[in-house]
Amino acid sequence: MSNGTMKAVRFHEYGGLEKLVVEEVARPTPKPTEVLIRMKSAGVNPADWKFRAGYMKAFAPIPLPWTSGLDGAGIIEAVGAEVKGLRPGQAVFGIITGSYAEYAVAGAGDVVPKPDHLSFDQAAAIPVGALTAWQAIVEDAQVRSGQRVLVLGAAGGVGLFGVQFARDRGARVTGTASAENLAYVRSIGAEEALDYRSPALAGKLVDFDVVFDTVGGETLEAAWKMVKRGGHLLSVAGMVDAKQGESLGINAKYTGRAATLHLPRIAELLQAKKVAPRVGKLFPLSDARKAQELSQTGHGGGRIVLHIAD
Ligand SMILES: NC(=O)c1ccc[n+]([C@@H]2O[C@H](COP(=O)([O-])OP(=O)(O)OC[C@H]3O[C@@H](n4cnc5c(N)ncnc54)[C@H](OP(=O)(O)O)[C@@H]3O)[C@@H](O)[C@H]2O)c1
Repeated sequence: MSNGTMKAVRFHEYGGLEKLVVEEVARPTPKPTEVLIRMKSAGVNPADWKFRAGYMKAFAPIPLPWTSGLDGAGIIEAVGAEVKGLRPGQAVFGIITGSYAEYAVAGAGDVVPKPDHLSFDQAAAIPVGALTAWQAIVEDAQVRSGQRVLVLGAAGGVGLFGVQFARDRGARVTGTASAENLAYVRSIGAEEALDYRSPALAGKLVDFDVVFDTVGGETLEAAWKMVKRGGHLLSVAGMVDAKQGESLGINAKYTGRAATLHLPRIAELLQAKKVAPRVGKLFPLSDARKAQELSQTGHGGGRIVLHIAD
């Protein structure tokens, strides 16, 4: 199937923001097990600029030129011959590689129908963040009712789902964020929201059953003291020494995004309004550089989203 051209945001070599260019390229063609999606919105994840900068090339090599973007939402334009259960015209969201473009292909199992009450921009703010939090809170820690869960970086694109999944499972949640995001963190179910810049925080955060770190660096180092013996320390933002965990009696692990087979369950929670995304700032596709520049600050105010088409 040859279906004309489209605008896509790509980079031809690793480097700074200036490497991102909007180009007119051929629309992709879905394989038999894939769908072609007319993109409405794309999530802007920290991984996008890390890929562009070349930080991931050792363990996740990509062919260049590369179209940025890992997730998003749009309308199915065409389905491959073997695809069942999805049809052209359906609104979907999910893991869509190369989502910074007017069209992208995705595995049929990597997208699910978009809940009607969510806009495309809201749906695009979900997949990577929600699947990553799902892996830590639901799959790895198997958070249970009554447990105390600490989410470090609770207002971020991953952390905000960590808070909501833990709360939905009946845990008592504490979240850290900057002062301007504390009210938001409480609004999504945290009993306690604490300013990570406050000097009063040191020594206050102890005895958690589960600590979910989305910040890394010094925050992750300090997190070891916050977990109780037998508890879980899970980070998606920094390497974790499992041996150190063994010696302390802590289940410590670097973890990552869950498989897309968990997307339908996440969609159910969204549909039931038990969890909700938070769109940070919106940018047009042509401003992808500005969007990644904001993402690089680590203070996107939720998930930054590229609004591709109305
Ligand atoms: N391993 C994986 O598979 C995987 C998957 C997804 C993401 N990640 C990684 O996880 C990290 C978070 O991703 P994200 O999408 O949630 O990023 P994000 O949307 O940019 O959020 C980062 C959050 O961190 C908060 N923050 C910054 N410094 C903090 C500190 N010292 N203490 C507590 N919170 C702090 C910010 O809060 P304020 O704005 O309130 O300051 C912001 O809400 C990134 O490093 C990303 O690459 C890994």
